[in-house]
Amino acid sequence: MTMTMRSTSLFFFFLSLLSLSSASNHDHSTSNTNVAPTPPSSIQQLCKAATQFPDLCVSSLSNSKQLPPNLTPLQLIYSSLSVTSETTRTVQSKVNDIINSAVGDQNRIRASNNCLEVLKSSLYRISITTNDALPRCNLKSSRTWISASLLHHTDCVLALTKVNDTKLVTETLSLVGLLINITSNALSLLFSYDHFGNNTASWIPPRTERDGFWGPVKMSGIAGFKGGVPTNLEVDMTVSKDGRNRSYKMVQDAVNAAPNNTVDGKRFVIRIKAGVYVEMVRVPLEKKNVVFLGDGIGKTVITGSLYVGLPQQSPRRVVLEHILLRLDYNFSSLC
Ligand SMILES: *[C@@H]1O[C@H](CO)[C@@H](O)[C@H](O)[C@H]1NC(C)=O
Ligand SMILES: *[C@@H]1O[C@H](CO)[C@@H](O)[C@H](O)[C@H]1NC(C)=O
Ligand SMILES: *[C@@H]1O[C@H](CO)[C@@H](O)[C@H](O)[C@H]1NC(C)=O
Ligand SMILES: *[C@@H]1O[C@H](CO)[C@@H](O)[C@H](O)[C@H]1NC(C)=O
Ligand SMILES: *[C@@H]1O[C@H](CO)[C@@H](O)[C@H](O)[C@H]1NC(C)=O
Ligand SMILES: *[C@@H]1O[C@H](CO)[C@@H](O)[C@H](O)[C@H]1NC(C)=O
Repeated sequence: MTMTMRSTSLFFFFLSLLSLSSASNHDHSTSNTNVAPTPPSSIQQLCKAATQFPDLCVSSLSNSKQLPPNLTPLQLIYSSLSVTSETTRTVQSKVNDIINSAVGDQNRIRASNNCLEVLKSSLYRISITTNDALPRCNLKSSRTWISASLLHHTDCVLALTKVNDTKLVTETLSLVGLLINITSNALSLLFSYDHFGNNTASWIPPRTERDGFWGPVKMSGIAGFKGGVPTNLEVDMTVSKDGRNRSYKMVQDAVNAAPNNTVDGKRFVIRIKAGVYVEMVRVPLEKKNVVFLGDGIGKTVITGSLYVGLPQQSPRRVVLEHILLRLDYNFSSLC
């Protein structure tokens, strides 16, 4: 599932997204002892304090070319995004290698193209974070875009896992695994920067909405907004299993019918009634401000059809827990 939004006024916290970074905090021995100079202690401190994969965080950031000598938290975040984007490009080229060696294997080509499509969206979102959201101190949007990237990367894994029967695909999959952890780290750093700013002594690993955590609401501009799950979303379109009341039966059909929404700030709310929707939902980049509103945990479930009929794969479940937090901020004063 992918979502597209304008960066200015609406934030979607993909509730399931941070679950990757909230996985138990294993120490992975990914630290690279032959990295030449000792990284600045601030990198080590911040990686250790705020990320799920601190060794990977230190080693990947220490290798970053963009590393200035006296690193500020914001520069650390830019570096982590730059590493994320570089690694995404490396994955892209591996996936192109898969296509080039696929010799007419349509399954392999299709899976690779699905992965390439989401990687492209991911690179787009990383670039709007780096070039637009972060320079404007729009930290909520930054988190949203990087959350979306993380989801794109897991979508790539889902696609390639179907054709994981050559060494090249297996290698690529493990590289995407690395990319996911790197993206998760970047998102974690953003989380702490958003919450604690330059007060790095307070930085902590991210908690998620699943843990019952909702970010504090600052300067809410929406009347009636109380934090947490939004209560006053106006539904534009409904999806239901029975298709009654002129609702769509498939989430994708509703998405296709949604306008491009170029009008600034206009949200398009798709209410998805309880049910299990067996489909792989794609929201193209032109569809701005699409909001999915589910009926809650375990009620509205979208499960990718790519996995149907593959007994060894457990279906992917995107649970639309009441969708997301919606906030309006005046960004200028955030940093
Ligand atoms: C891909 O296949 C390899 C070899 O069978 C296996 O070790 C690896 O776990 C698989 N990767 C995924 C993501 O399923
Ligand atoms: C990424 O994190 C997962 C745990 O979520 C771990 O199993 C895997 O080994 C990590 N991969 C890399 C390359 O760090
Ligand atoms: C946001 O900023 C605009 C001016 O840029 C101002 O008119 C508006 O009152 C501000 N809103 C809040 C909630 O502070
Ligand atoms: C259809 O819409 C009507 C009025 O909007 C509502 O009362 C009714 O519960 C809806 N039925 C279903 C099945 O959603
Ligand atoms: C939405 O944008 C896409 C890409 O720019 C365009 O092809 C499509 O016609 C637009 N759809 C509508 C309804 O304007
Ligand atoms: C952190 O400090 C820098 C100056 O070193 C400042 O530009 C930035 O806005 C601050 N960040 C936040 C979130 O306050």
